[in-house]
Amino acid sequence: MNEHDSKPTTTDAGGPVSSDEHSLTVGPDGPILLHDHYLIEQMANFNRERIPERQPHAKGSGAFGHFEVTNDVSAYTKAALFQPGTKTDTLIRFSTVAGERGSPDTWRDPRGFALKFYTSEGNYDMVGNNTPVFFLRDPLKFQHFIRSQKRRADNGLRDHDMQWDFWTLSPESAHQVTWLMGDRGIPKNWRQMNGYSSHTYMWVNASGERFWVKYHFKTDQGIDYLTQEEADRLAGTDGDYHRRDLFDAIKRGEYPTWSLKVQIMPFEEAKTYRLNPFDLTKVWPHSDYPLHDVGRLTLNRNPTDFHTEIEQAAFEPNNLVPGIGISPDKMLLGRMFAYADSHRHRLGVNYKQIPVNRPQSPVHSYSKDGQMRVDNVSDPVYAPNSKGGPKADGERYPESATWSADGEFTRAAYTLREDDDDFGQAGILVRDVMDDAQRERLVSNVVGHLKAGVSEPVLERAFEYWCNVDKEIGDRIRKGVTGS
Ligand code: NDP
Ligand code: HEM
Repeated sequence: MNEHDSKPTTTDAGGPVSSDEHSLTVGPDGPILLHDHYLIEQMANFNRERIPERQPHAKGSGAFGHFEVTNDVSAYTKAALFQPGTKTDTLIRFSTVAGERGSPDTWRDPRGFALKFYTSEGNYDMVGNNTPVFFLRDPLKFQHFIRSQKRRADNGLRDHDMQWDFWTLSPESAHQVTWLMGDRGIPKNWRQMNGYSSHTYMWVNASGERFWVKYHFKTDQGIDYLTQEEADRLAGTDGDYHRRDLFDAIKRGEYPTWSLKVQIMPFEEAKTYRLNPFDLTKVWPHSDYPLHDVGRLTLNRNPTDFHTEIEQAAFEPNNLVPGIGISPDKMLLGRMFAYADSHRHRLGVNYKQIPVNRPQSPVHSYSKDGQMRVDNVSDPVYAPNSKGGPKADGERYPESATWSADGEFTRAAYTLREDDDDFGQAGILVRDVMDDAQRERLVSNVVGHLKAGVSEPVLERAFEYWCNVDKEIGDRIRKGVTGS
């Protein structure tokens, strides 16, 4: 296209403008006129370009693709997107947790793995991470945890002392911290890491039978990681390394894929399993609950407008579809409120009308009006009504993803079971899953982290914390930091 083929610039209202370069002035050297509304529109729009960043998970990027079912899991769920032969459009967003919108991609942190499935029965969001566990098991601690990972009040700096203070006073974090300090704490890129639901969810089949499930999206590109040194160098030379890698790979036609597998626990077994299957700091060992194949996720389309398609994407674990429900995991219950609240603040009450968040299935809700509403509402605007408005169909869509609970109101930890300790699975990860070279890098990563500003009494607590994970690793870490 040569310059004469360009479309004429217009105002936002479509009116042609006569210059892209010169303000309207009284003579070439005179003052700018207030009625240069085009200049004012440009300035005003610019001043309002930034929307609030996500509180956690501010830095990230994503892509579009599809999910195809390859195996028959209809015995476990009636969800339309998991029925044999079904192909569903998807959006994914990868992210780091603690850094701001412009922070380096290669900081050590869990990575978000947020998926939106545009299913025939409404949007289903699987908002997971690249780790199978999390630092906490009660949502009341989440806000405090994230603050400890972000910046101090006084100097605005991130602070390892603050991080280890929180972690060592929260021993339930040990499994996730061990995972984080190992190789998988800095993936080589987003294509070469797994995604997990981390939480336990419920599946319900067509007969109303209930199952507990955990999702594992296993990368087909093979796992790879960055060493601390490589990551530190990249943080200084290419802060957008992971964003660039994904975009370029898709642009080259190298479409990354993940195989979805699920662990399935019969509903009744949860009551007697040796550990609380809803505790987010624990995995279900594969030897107890093997992986079942479900399907394949493929990413094959880059965004064309980062702001409208990625920055304004709104994921929320409460976007559920028939055949999929939540579980008594207290963290997941807390998340059912947090996300939509954040979107209303960040994007406005009608954020589900932004094209990237719109379901592909019809919407017949009673929501009405509010800022930036663009869909017309028609009468009747209330229910129940006798005027032909939408009517909930409890027979076709019963509230079936349920469980029973009873007890006095209380603020208490989960009731402990036989294998419900804070350090056991972290120790298994160190001793049985990692090899010598991985353990060496784990020790080196922790020593480096502790030497960067952690002081007494937090430091002594950190040594005890690691000795509780594994005595030998704890001793090596102490020696690495203190020299003895
Ligand atoms: P398995 O031997 O069956 O599984 C070990 C798991 O560890 C595999 O999923 C493997 O993933 C993953 N893994 C390998 N290297 C690392 C690493 N450096 N950091 C983190 N994960 C790694 O054992 P279990 O199921 O009994 O689990 C043992 C321990 O493995 C757990 O305590 C947990 O820490 C960790 N783990 C367990 C998972 C689970 O859902 N059971 C999932 C992920 C980790 P891959 O095959 O993709 O390489
Ligand atoms: C983002 C809250 C735990 C994964 C967010 C956001 C909030 C939030 C408010 C920002 C949403 C936005 O503005 O778009 C919470 C609370 C938690 C919790 C209150 C616990 C009680 C978790 C866990 C996981 C997780 C356990 C993973 C298993 C994510 C991801 C994003 C996110 C991936 C980014 C989504 C995106 O890409 O837009 N969280 N979170 N969170 N959270 Fe959580």
